[in-house]
Amino acid sequence: MQLDIPILSNDTTEDINVLTKNNYRSTNGKNVYIETYGCQMNVNDSEIVAGILQKSGYGITDKIENSDVILLNTCSVRDNAEQKIDKRLQHLRYYKKKKSKLIVGILGCMAERLRGKLIGKQDLVSIVVGPDEYRKMPELLEQAFKGEEGIAVKLSRVETYDDIIPLRTEGVSAWLSITRGCDKFCTYCVVPYTRGRERSKPFSAVLKEVNELWKEGFKELTLLGQNVNSYIDMEAKKDFAKLLDEIAILVPQMRIRYTTSHPYDMTDELIETMAKHKNICNYIHLPVQSGSNRILELMNRHYSVEHYLERIRKIKELIPNVALSTDIISGFPTESEEDHKMTLDLMKEVRYDGAYMFNYSPRSKTKSYMMTDDVPVETKKRRLSEIIDIQNQIASEINKNEIGNIHEVLVEGTSKKNINEWQGRSDTNKVVIFDNSDGKYVMGDLVKCRITKSSSATLFGEVV
Ligand code: 5AD
Ligand code: SF4
Repeated sequence: MQLDIPILSNDTTEDINVLTKNNYRSTNGKNVYIETYGCQMNVNDSEIVAGILQKSGYGITDKIENSDVILLNTCSVRDNAEQKIDKRLQHLRYYKKKKSKLIVGILGCMAERLRGKLIGKQDLVSIVVGPDEYRKMPELLEQAFKGEEGIAVKLSRVETYDDIIPLRTEGVSAWLSITRGCDKFCTYCVVPYTRGRERSKPFSAVLKEVNELWKEGFKELTLLGQNVNSYIDMEAKKDFAKLLDEIAILVPQMRIRYTTSHPYDMTDELIETMAKHKNICNYIHLPVQSGSNRILELMNRHYSVEHYLERIRKIKELIPNVALSTDIISGFPTESEEDHKMTLDLMKEVRYDGAYMFNYSPRSKTKSYMMTDDVPVETKKRRLSEIIDIQNQIASEINKNEIGNIHEVLVEGTSKKNINEWQGRSDTNKVVIFDNSDGKYVMGDLVKCRITKSSSATLFGEVV
């Protein structure tokens, strides 16, 4: 799965990803099927889990009917992400009826949040494992096969899995988590409670892994963290800008991306580092959440609209052809029509290439859960659709202006709709579709495409 520049996104468009790595056969006769929900950190975590399990003898399969263990790596960030898991568990009962010894486990944020409440859910779930306890998976599975239920949900201040080799999905792009957890405590967000305190992977471990990924043949790397730009290795005295600088020098032919960044930590040095290196992609995901200072303060976002716009100005000045995307929450408690209009104004001013747009969803344990969720559902829906409409319009206009431009496209494979057409991604993270009916190009190639057509979500081009 890739991180698309989102054009139209709302609460019903969470991605699901099945880990497809079939060349690791089991040595203990048991196969594991892993489904991942939610963010890219979860995608990389599933690869870490697969790495741990493969080392203790399990095979990894993408065929659910061949599996002895089904693991769902879950998201808790909005209520509908959890509802989706509930529905999926109902479907999974079918497989349990066919194979009574089947083990079903819940991993990730929902496991951390709901803990013991998940055991026995739908007469299915027998193991529950939080994001910092994946090393215990082999032990927990062994017990589960003996009929024992297991819960491991302790959060850690130090776990970064820096010695674990993730079993990555084959392809041209690799994910690499360099920070875990979050210390920002935005008042709406459950992440600090489900993923714990922020910690960074040691600098030397990151560089070693990047080097190995390049040698393995990956052409693109995305550095991940809930707050990736607050990365810090105190001992090595390296912050995110320095890390990025050294990675760009270490693997000059590799495309480097990162997500998600926080506006508070978007330093001049980081923007300058991006501008300096050709192999650091000209794309930044910079969640703004709201265009109203009053709401930003209630959200505990640590920046003002003015600060945010100043960062955007600096980014556009130093990286002129940068693509930008954001996250927006509509209908936060007390949000007025005026606050909402400020969000629309900010979107018109920044002109994002893409946005993930959500209705506010109250999450227990968070600070805003104590505030009254007072924006009526109908108002929330209407405001969200206004936000989506504006974003669609802006993205269509931006993409129309791309016609005639030439982009270097990293080829990912056939397009979803037509096998003669292939797709890749521009440096600015836009999907570019092009004709490859003569099969000249293969995954991982870099091709130059002139854009001939566009929609709000996609560019179409011809190879030049
Ligand atoms: N309600 C709605 N959206 C949320 N997000 C995080 N928590 C909530 C919530 N309680 C959104 C934010 C964040 C993205 C990952 O999810 O926009 O940046
Ligand atoms: Fe959640 Fe805020 Fe941390 Fe992002 S920065 S993970 S929104 S608490």
